[in-house]
Amino acid sequence: MLPVVSNTELAPNIFEIVVKNPPLAKKAEAGHFVIVMTQPDAERIPLTIADFDADAGTITMIAAACGTSTKKLAALKAGQPLYAMIGPLGHPSEMLHYGTVILVAGGVGTAPVYPIARALHRFGNHVITIQGSRSEELLFWREKTAAVSHEHIITTDDGSAGIKALVTEPLRDILEKRKSEIGCVYMIGPAVMMKFCAKTVVPFGVKALASLNSIMIDGTGMCGCCRVRVGGETKFTCVDGPEFDASLVDWDILLARQKMYCEEEQCSLKKYLAEQ
Ligand SMILES: Cc1cc2nc3c(=O)[nH]c(=O)nc-3n(C[C@H](O)[C@H](O)[C@H](O)COP(=O)(O)OP(=O)(O)OC[C@H]3O[C@@H](n4cnc5c(N)ncnc54)[C@H](O)[C@@H]3O)c2cc1C
Ligand code: FES
Repeated sequence: MLPVVSNTELAPNIFEIVVKNPPLAKKAEAGHFVIVMTQPDAERIPLTIADFDADAGTITMIAAACGTSTKKLAALKAGQPLYAMIGPLGHPSEMLHYGTVILVAGGVGTAPVYPIARALHRFGNHVITIQGSRSEELLFWREKTAAVSHEHIITTDDGSAGIKALVTEPLRDILEKRKSEIGCVYMIGPAVMMKFCAKTVVPFGVKALASLNSIMIDGTGMCGCCRVRVGGETKFTCVDGPEFDASLVDWDILLARQKMYCEEEQCSLKKYLAEQ
């Protein structure tokens, strides 16, 4: 059992959950994720380690409360226990001297982008972050993200903050003007956003990395639930990823597999909400 230190709603239905877990906080690196369970009979869900503090012994997660398990997590109060947290899982992000790196964060994708941007910044890269959301009220960790970026661009679908555009527009603009200085583009967010970011980057021949959010069960390579097609090969997001070459990902298979359990998810959510 791990004590919840704080649980804060940063934006409508987006929660920042800080949990005490000193051994994990010591091992965590940018790009890692955990699998959490709210209680013994709960579903296991993967969440990125959005921040970690080895001195305080804490792990920070950001959860979009969109279904039963994330709503249960969002309902945990400071002082209450989180039943289980398994990790760190996945390969950490590779730290290289890229020169300039662009990191594109869509929606809750800001959570995984933040520690990677911070690590790349500390490693001596010039960091450009593009943080996109549907509207201003859904933007979170704006200052935190800006603090680990040399250039920080905000986009919103409705123009309520930053540029009224999809993230792909400033991305294409930078690649057109400064392609020679860009060593890598990271894209993390909804699969459809990553698909179009990849399509934008590929013609420029710049390295493109995406952190995939496939459905997971065990998170240790046993169940096959998180399988994705990358470069014509089957890969498991949990043990081979979560980062893959975005130009090689079969986005349509990922999108289809993410919708596989829609009916069951809706049914579970209805039951959970009726019980509240
Ligand atoms: C490696 C990895 C890291 C992840 N990191 C995070 C993270 O840091 N934060 C986070 O919130 N999620 C993250 N996810 C996704 C998260 O695991 C799922 O959203 C979660 O399992 C949903 O469980 P649930 O029971 O609450 O919802 P479910 O009952 O599974 O239903 C979720 C439904 O909502 C949709 N949905 C999922 N995410 C969103 C969204 N952001 N906005 C709108 N609809 C959505 C799904 O397509 C699905 O139909 C990550 C996934 C992976 C594989
Ligand atoms: S989650 Fe089971 S193999 Fe990846």
